Amino acid sequence: MTSPDQPTLDNLSSETRRFPPPPEIAEHANVRADAYEQADADRLGFWAEQARRLDWAQPWDDDKVLEWDPPFAKWFGGGKLNVAYNCVDRHVEAGYGDKVAIHWEGEPGDTRSITYAQLQDEVSKAANALIELGVRTGDRVMIYLPMIPEAAIAFLACARLGAPHSVVFGGFSADALRSRIDDVGAKVLITSDGGYRRGKPSALKPNADEAMEGTAIEKVLVVRRTGEEVPMRDGRDVWWHDVVDRQSTEHTPEAFDAEHPLFILYTSGTTAKPKGILHTSGGYLTQTSWTHHAVFDHKPDSDVYWCAADIGWVTGHSYIVYGPLANRATQVMYEGTPDTPHRGRFWELIEKYRVTILYTAPTTIRTFMKWGADIPAEFDLSSLRILGSVGEPINPEAWMWYHEKIGGGRCPIVDTWWQTETGAILISPLPGVTVLKPGSAQRPLPGVGADVVDDAGKPVPNGGGGYLVLTEPWPAMLRTIWGDDERYVDTYWSRFRDQGYYFAGDGAKKDEEGDIWLLGRVDDVMNVSGHRISTTEVESALVSHPTVAEAAVVGATDPTTGQGIVAFVILRGDATDGGEELVVTLRNHVAKEIGPIAKPRQIMVVAELPKTRSGKIMRRLLRDVAENRDLGDVTTLADPTVMNLIGAGLQSGKTED
Ligand code: WT7
Repeated sequence: MTSPDQPTLDNLSSETRRFPPPPEIAEHANVRADAYEQADADRLGFWAEQARRLDWAQPWDDDKVLEWDPPFAKWFGGGKLNVAYNCVDRHVEAGYGDKVAIHWEGEPGDTRSITYAQLQDEVSKAANALIELGVRTGDRVMIYLPMIPEAAIAFLACARLGAPHSVVFGGFSADALRSRIDDVGAKVLITSDGGYRRGKPSALKPNADEAMEGTAIEKVLVVRRTGEEVPMRDGRDVWWHDVVDRQSTEHTPEAFDAEHPLFILYTSGTTAKPKGILHTSGGYLTQTSWTHHAVFDHKPDSDVYWCAADIGWVTGHSYIVYGPLANRATQVMYEGTPDTPHRGRFWELIEKYRVTILYTAPTTIRTFMKWGADIPAEFDLSSLRILGSVGEPINPEAWMWYHEKIGGGRCPIVDTWWQTETGAILISPLPGVTVLKPGSAQRPLPGVGADVVDDAGKPVPNGGGGYLVLTEPWPAMLRTIWGDDERYVDTYWSRFRDQGYYFAGDGAKKDEEGDIWLLGRVDDVMNVSGHRISTTEVESALVSHPTVAEAAVVGATDPTTGQGIVAFVILRGDATDGGEELVVTLRNHVAKEIGPIAKPRQIMVVAELPKTRSGKIMRRLLRDVAENRDLGDVTTLADPTVMNLIGAGLQSGKTED
């Protein structure tokens, strides 16, 4: 808690660069400035209008757009629809059967282009196969797959049957998969022999086998991807090509209630037991479809869209499968890593498919920065017109690099803030409306209520920092934590119970014009001599130095200041390790950019940072290093060996003064 005269979170940095929307984008934008006023005047009417983007088998009751029994929401009560029909069949019926839905690119270079008509056949066959395996409406189906088209087909087959899916990212361990199978109570699992990663087949099925021991899984549908030998258990395991391929392409989709569960996606959070975030059908599809249309200014007849996330994360659910397919998008889906077989792979794909909209994460952008701008410069990226960012705050310098080196200075960047729990983008610029500020997610989208408040739940004035809250229910919001309403209430709705706000767990500030800047998770906030400093601002100051590609800072216990700032930095491709001198330069640079209070006590130059599989820096582990503790749990690290590298660097003890 902070005292009343002390800010909840200090506001240190300021950014003055401005980028108005390019005239040709503003002129043809899907959504204009009047959407904000329209939604302010009648929020529920606004969402009802967006829900008409979808095809409803039965319309919702006019008085039931939202039934709000805080904090439990129902949207579009009385309405019925089939999500898969909305993402596939209706486009075929409208005459777009020959339009490509997915240009899939395997890591080894094999490709498949799947039209909407083919997708309809594949989804129908997969739905029929799931029925044969005993899946009925309401049954949960577990999905553990790499980035192959069958992943999208499996999602949609489940949605078609009203059988909620629960996807576990292919990079997760057997333990992670087992705990989710148990929690969700799945009887059927869809997996594959393996997938390709960094030029090599990487097995999945053996992990799945280990995970299933002692669970209730009765049937396993296995996609052949790598062709490597895998054990198949008689009576339990069947091949996708044996069972799906022989099914009929006819399957009549049934309409389900708007609140019928669509999927459960686990998010790890800070405590041991992962939370099963429940999303339902009508509100979720309305908001993912509308935000994909509005935020990416997506035009189905001319755009080629690419979301480079993995299907195992919520970004893949909302912005590879449901939003884009509901909008009849043609999209690129890529199986592998950005450096296989070479570091220009992304740019090669953009050139090949003439991608117009690219959506990726700051961590990926900073990796590209580290590799150097001469790599993208070798490719024709002139098709690009909109760039998106998601997953963590994008530092202004990474934003500028993305804007110039990838977007050629002509593409608006939409910095989209949202969460697994929110289901869809809530805070973001609109590319044809917003004057962009590098590093800011800017304003809540039309129809969304968000604010930054202090400890007491009072909105902070412009220029102030505090906690990001959502002040109104939204259509794609999580409905609960699977099987645990109490935990849902405690986790998200108890911190600001009196105000009835959803607490997102993020720190944020409002600038002088009221635009929102995300400052990282509040758990990561550092307290230096009574100043509450966000990790994001110090990291951005470090990344704004030309030698730094990436930075992570943590607060470490300090006898004089309470906490001292310890920074870990990765240098850019062309920068050499400048030793002591560079450390001094960087400390002074931070002091100059955002003030002496934020000057790191210690700076370490490292080769890698510990990141989760979804690219978020695990500051908890860096705190362990900074405070010379034994490392905590490293099992969710993308690459557990990076901690050895970092530990070795620390022992050489080069940076303290
Ligand atoms: C957390 C949610 C949203 C899909 C991927 C991550 C951080 C996300 C931004 C952004 C600043 C962001 C927040 C949020 N975050 N987008 N544009 N600017 N921070 O989903 O794993 O549920 O993580 O990611 O801290 O709370 P997730």
